[in-house]
Amino acid sequence: MRYINSSALRPGMKVADAIYEVQGRPIVDKGTVLTADRISYISFVGIQGLYIEDELENSVDVVDLVKPEIRKTAGDVVENFFSKSKGISLTELEEHIMAVVSTVVDEVLKNKDVMTNLVQIRTYDQYTYFHSVDVGVLAGIIGAKYGLNTEALKDLVMAGFLHDIGKVFISPDIINAPRRLDDAERIKMMEHPRLGYEYLIRKYHFSDMVNRTVLEHHEWFNGLGYPNKKEGKGLLITSRILKAADVYDAMTTKRPYHPPYLPSEVMEYIMGRSGLEFDPRVVEVMSRELNVYPLGCRVELSDGTKAIVVGHNTGMILRPTVETINDKKIIDLYRDRDAWSKTIVKMII
Ligand SMILES: [Fe+2]
Repeated sequence: MRYINSSALRPGMKVADAIYEVQGRPIVDKGTVLTADRISYISFVGIQGLYIEDELENSVDVVDLVKPEIRKTAGDVVENFFSKSKGISLTELEEHIMAVVSTVVDEVLKNKDVMTNLVQIRTYDQYTYFHSVDVGVLAGIIGAKYGLNTEALKDLVMAGFLHDIGKVFISPDIINAPRRLDDAERIKMMEHPRLGYEYLIRKYHFSDMVNRTVLEHHEWFNGLGYPNKKEGKGLLITSRILKAADVYDAMTTKRPYHPPYLPSEVMEYIMGRSGLEFDPRVVEVMSRELNVYPLGCRVELSDGTKAIVVGHNTGMILRPTVETINDKKIIDLYRDRDAWSKTIVKMII
């Protein structure tokens, strides 16, 4: 099978790996032969690409990082938390979310040594709360690879789930505006970390680390973020990780005014902003451990060669091993001296 972008899907192609909604319903089942309608729906929900059957390429193993049912539970709990509805007491909410955070951290730790394929951690659902769940899971994965202990990981995942809780105090007209915000609206929006922090302290009993990570999730490593312009090691490590996970998730999400960026494009952005927005040590862990080119995807090299990604190089996610399509030559973009001047310029169809 091979991974292709959604824009390249054509009727008649056969799906090699299912993609699920968080409710557990498949958006596409393994073995489905695509129709034009199904392809439109896949684009509509913002799926960037999927694995299709293709006899020509090597087969690829796909690992589920955090099970769909756990994500579903997490989404429900986070939704309850944001809406404070359904007659659930604050104490119960706190217990529910702590239980789900523990489960997520267990799963993340179980897969700690598996190189994470970034295209697989997205949840494809129109359900708002999954941005929070995806950010919590991704932050947990980065934190585990960074070497945080279990307690710190729980605080980090919790903060990931709740990082935008302060937005419940901001007008939905601003939150949901399908356009760029004006200055006044942007200033209002920038209050959400502080509003969330104060709300969590007022109503709940999370650790200081959770509350502070929520407060600091828009701070920049160089001190130019908000709300307090804190910098460097003055910021909690959990805040520095959450910041990167949040930006990653936001940029790969489909928005009304912008198509999603590819994981490789976002990693280029994050690497380019290392030391500015992002902690270089966090960027280093991400660039070593998170795959942005799924095995089996087609790419174009800077010399025009078309190739298929056939292997990953730990520490060099942007320089995998590829096989050229025309003459089946294996090129290790990391180790082959002749290939050092070549780069991947894009994923192709
Ligand atoms: Fe935020």
